Amino acid sequence: MYFPDYRPRRLRRNENFRRMIRETKLSVDDLVYPLFCVPGKGVKKPINSMTGHFQLSNDHLVAEVRKAKDLGIPAVLLFGIPDKKDEMATGAFAKDGVIQKAVQALKDKVPDILVITDVCLCEYTSHGHCGMIAGGDVDNDTTLEVLAETAVSHARAGADMVAPSAMMDGQVGAIREGLDEADFANIPIMAYAAKYASSFYGPFREAAESAPQYGDRKSYQMDPANSDEAIREINLDVEEGADIIMVKPALPYLDIIRRAKEEFDLPLAAYNVSGEFAMIKAAANLGWLDGEKAMMESLTAIKRAGADIIITYFAVEAARVLQK
Ligand code: PBG
Repeated sequence: MYFPDYRPRRLRRNENFRRMIRETKLSVDDLVYPLFCVPGKGVKKPINSMTGHFQLSNDHLVAEVRKAKDLGIPAVLLFGIPDKKDEMATGAFAKDGVIQKAVQALKDKVPDILVITDVCLCEYTSHGHCGMIAGGDVDNDTTLEVLAETAVSHARAGADMVAPSAMMDGQVGAIREGLDEADFANIPIMAYAAKYASSFYGPFREAAESAPQYGDRKSYQMDPANSDEAIREINLDVEEGADIIMVKPALPYLDIIRRAKEEFDLPLAAYNVSGEFAMIKAAANLGWLDGEKAMMESLTAIKRAGADIIITYFAVEAARVLQK
């Protein structure tokens, strides 16, 4: 069919036509809301580079999660910033650690929303790397034990799902084994399977106070230039028992999301990361674009690319728009 017989504009004439043939529909069911937890009481500390986001103590966290729940958001993803960091990341798996207490508070006060925990060590190590240091680099296999212990401690606190993001080889297998041995065979793993060494994590590192004190994360996170390698990475996580696979970041990696969707049949998550959020907010604050429209267009694009689940700092704002 060619012009003039076929005129695509016929079905774009008004919103009802457009609604009828719309291929991708964003839903509140797709959204996961990331939050930053700190110890103490009455803390609601703004994150400079992330307009509208805060480091929250449990009282404020509970209020924020209640808001998300009332908007119909099915899940939150928690990151913890401990009081003290050390070489061994002991705060990551402490029974009364910041995340463990946050999970308990949420399970107690807002039972009807999924609580997912990020499993990584960078917020807990004094050097800011995602694992144990040996010989000047992050040591893979000793880190696995700590990650597994951390995941189990989250499950003990009541987490509904764990999300390992350290990009250590074998981390999903080690965590699966740890969970199963501790009688948490029913706790799923959302694996940050293809996570790139991205500059778009900048604002997050301010929010989580987790910037590496020296070096970078290129020896464990993926090279942004690679696509076939993402498939190998995801494959490993699937083999090791991932229940949900993830591509991160989202917008600069829509091709990877599409490939992952085509090559794997597990639910696929995409992480619309802090830098993607901050760019839109910054431009909107300057009046350079319509922030709400850019947000909805971005989230729809991530879904169109193939994501079933979108982790986004826009979750609450987008849920409000979807409610209208
Ligand atoms: C922890 C982790 C990071 C993000 C999620 N988990 C930071 C990093 O890898 O440096 C980034 C999320 C974001 O930018 O929104 N390793």
